[in-house]
Amino acid sequence: MTGYNFIYVPQKVSFVQTKYRTIKTKIPVPESLVVFKDLKEYESRSMHGQLPIVWDRAEDFQVFDKYGNCWIDFTSTIFLANIGHSNPMVIKALQKQLNHKLVHTYTFAHEIRAKFLKKLIEITPRFCEKAFLLSAGTEATECAVKLMRMHGQAIKPSKIGIISFQGSMHGRTMGAEMLKGDLGTSAWIGYMDPNMYPLPFPYPWLVEESAGYPYDWAEHFRKDIETLHKKGVNFDDICGFMIESYQGWGAIFYPKANIQALAIFAREHGILVTFDEIQGGFGRSGKLFVYQHYDVEPDLICLGKALSGSLPLSAVIGRREIMDLPETGSMSSTHSANPLCCAAALANIEEIAAKNLIEESAQKGEILHSYLDKLKDKYPDHISCILGKGLLAAIIVTNPKNHKQDRFLASRICEKAMQKGLLLVHTGRESIKIGPPLTISEDALDEGLAVFEESICDVDREES
Ligand SMILES: Cc1ncc(COP(=O)(O)O)c(C=O)c1O
Repeated sequence: MTGYNFIYVPQKVSFVQTKYRTIKTKIPVPESLVVFKDLKEYESRSMHGQLPIVWDRAEDFQVFDKYGNCWIDFTSTIFLANIGHSNPMVIKALQKQLNHKLVHTYTFAHEIRAKFLKKLIEITPRFCEKAFLLSAGTEATECAVKLMRMHGQAIKPSKIGIISFQGSMHGRTMGAEMLKGDLGTSAWIGYMDPNMYPLPFPYPWLVEESAGYPYDWAEHFRKDIETLHKKGVNFDDICGFMIESYQGWGAIFYPKANIQALAIFAREHGILVTFDEIQGGFGRSGKLFVYQHYDVEPDLICLGKALSGSLPLSAVIGRREIMDLPETGSMSSTHSANPLCCAAALANIEEIAAKNLIEESAQKGEILHSYLDKLKDKYPDHISCILGKGLLAAIIVTNPKNHKQDRFLASRICEKAMQKGLLLVHTGRESIKIGPPLTISEDALDEGLAVFEESICDVDREES
């Protein structure tokens, strides 16, 4: 899939100076081009394709470059900086840990790890009895697959099947990419695990509600699962469901009845349920975890990103008897539970509570969604739907000329917004995502949304 190419020739753009934004140079900044040149030369191109600005520092909900420009950040670096960039309490905790001169212990015990784990278990729901810490999100999802399979095998050796949903993001390692069930992205693997069954994702736009009768999403799930049975899959050989708590690229939540039917089915067949909360966890959706919107209880959850709000830390959390399945020493990673990461993550949890950030997310989410809903009414030819909850939104962009979803137009809007001092989540697809730090002030949120609207207008004007 060829993506949109951002303009790397410095463009003269309008001067911007407001309370929260400054744009005073050409964009991209001519002096910054050397950084892109070096990255192009020395780094795998797989890391490239992002908006062409060079971050110098980021504080709370603003990002600064070295040349006097400043952006309102609607990305939180993809929902990591929920407590705000360079949060002072996290910086303080990191400085304390650095001055204490303990930055790594491998799997040797250290105090801050025990303190953090105790706190994590205290603030998470009751089924979360034990956790295992890793670095990347993809390690956490692979670990959950391992735990679900070990749990299944303890019941019977053939109970190793994993059901996931097509198009879901669980990371970039082998198992995680297989779960996605996308033959394109997992072509490099060369085969699919015959015991992984990615079901079609229940996209809301695939069905039409008939007059007066809401669509039966529970029945939809039962039909999908029945197709597996017809292909010869024995349900008693399924050990787990792996569910991205909403589909990332478009913030697409599952219909509640669909997940509730899944949870009932899982209990009937002794199947564990894992929610991958790596992107949506820790308040982004207006609840601590996204699965709480579905009124179900999982067996395991995977966390990452906003778990530490800063450094690389991920986790799998669940019931004691599942978490203790691997033998002592058989599940570890060199950087698991690094003292700096644990110190940052402990401060992160304390900040979320101290600043009531989950409630803030729900409340500011109302402002965000009410603005976006009005925008959709104003630009029905450009916006086909608005999805998401809390301080998380995805705008599905359509081309007014042919009414088709248009990823190039979405990229162009992101580029335009960048030139005006606003950073949006560029997905490379037909969606634009919005997810500012949960600490953003209401006037900065309003200002950013107005810039988003202006960017749509500008792109529309250019196209017509
Ligand atoms: C839902 C979800 N799961 C897993 C991952 C992988 O996390 P990481 O990039 O830390 O490996 C991501 C990353 O974007 C994600 O959004």
